[in-house]
Amino acid sequence: MRAAVHEGRDHLVLVDDLDVEEPRPGEVLVSVSHCGICHSDLSFLDAGLGSDQPIVLGHEAAGTVEAVGPGVTTTVPGDRVLLTPLAPCGHCYWCARGEPTACESAHAFLGGTRPDGSTPFSRGGDPVLRGVGVGAFCEQTVVPESGVVRLDFDTPLDVACVLGCAIQTGVGAVVNTAGVEAGATVLVTGLGGIGISVVQGARLAGALQVIVSDPVAERREAALHFGATLAIDPLVDDVPARVLEATGGVGVDYAFEAAGVAALVSTCLDATRRHGTTVVVGVDATMATTELLPVMLALQGKRILGTLLGDCHPQRDIPMLVAAWRAGRLDLEGMVSHRLDLAEVNEGMDRLRQAAGIRTVLEVAGS
Ligand SMILES: NC(=O)c1ccc[n+]([C@@H]2O[C@H](COP(=O)([O-])OP(=O)(O)OC[C@H]3O[C@@H](n4cnc5c(N)ncnc54)[C@H](O)[C@@H]3O)[C@@H](O)[C@H]2O)c1
Ligand SMILES: [Zn+2]
Ligand SMILES: [Zn+2]
Repeated sequence: MRAAVHEGRDHLVLVDDLDVEEPRPGEVLVSVSHCGICHSDLSFLDAGLGSDQPIVLGHEAAGTVEAVGPGVTTTVPGDRVLLTPLAPCGHCYWCARGEPTACESAHAFLGGTRPDGSTPFSRGGDPVLRGVGVGAFCEQTVVPESGVVRLDFDTPLDVACVLGCAIQTGVGAVVNTAGVEAGATVLVTGLGGIGISVVQGARLAGALQVIVSDPVAERREAALHFGATLAIDPLVDDVPARVLEATGGVGVDYAFEAAGVAALVSTCLDATRRHGTTVVVGVDATMATTELLPVMLALQGKRILGTLLGDCHPQRDIPMLVAAWRAGRLDLEGMVSHRLDLAEVNEGMDRLRQAAGIRTVLEVAGS
């Protein structure tokens, strides 16, 4: 199969000899139609995420089920599906608690393997890891049954794919993690696919003020189109000061760090009101730290929450997000600013480095 493999360098290597196993019990084989490029993929290249083993990245994908392993009951060959990273096992301690993004198996997937340490991919007999439980920069992948969510046959996979990471993470951070209520005030720092999805989530939740910040003018303009009410250039203005000014000296109820820049967590804390909530969505893969003043947290009752994949329950939340899109309340088409072939994946990575557009989607195998 054709695939783009990360071998520890600053670019992906295009190969045409990647092997994928037949699905094991409880697994499905999916032909990947389209896959978006997320900053978490780029962090493997630029910030050294991952191990020394080769890995197939790409975790924001949709495709068609080709074959199912023994015991699979919820999908059949020919189904159009969204692939969801971190497929929950459904029966571990965390799943039983209703916290699927903390699932034991899902966290093994974060490391690039199944829980037993194996991977469905190999090249010349040597194992190749499957990125974030999906591995979709590749014509076909094998994932757990719970890692696919069926889509109606008329769902366009080239835009639906952004549900897999950006939308689940951004809207989920608002709705599931923070529980933003109607009338709330919100700040979003960082306006890539994730931040724009937070903006969309805030609008969906009925937030009245959605203040955004990003040094890239095009992205600030895009955010205004997606429902932001005020855009701040952090290179020109002091963000917490502008936020205080815009909220009658109070600060926002919720601030979302969606850039993956550690220092912005402090910016968000400074911009939230007393008893306000900061949600850390971005992943600063450089492992940078930021200074916090615990005494201020205590005295002002501020909260900090982290979120992985927006704390989504894929089988519950993906159909809800699709319904929101069909009702015209979620804009998926507008998220896809560029389309490239899988062979042009490195150009897509460069576009992401330059913060060009919002999401680049790769056409992998067509459908
Ligand atoms: N928590 C999760 O489950 C999860 C899921 C997916 C992605 N992520 C992370 O979310 C982050 C964003 O991903 P993306 O794909 O949207 O990335 P992206 O590169 O498209 O967007 C990041 C944006 O942050 C902006 N930015 C940089 N410095 C800034 C500053 N000082 N103030 C305001 N904005 C600033 C950039 O200009 C850019 O527009 C990444 O760290 C990614 O790894 C987290
Ligand atoms: Zn992602
Ligand atoms: Zn589990």
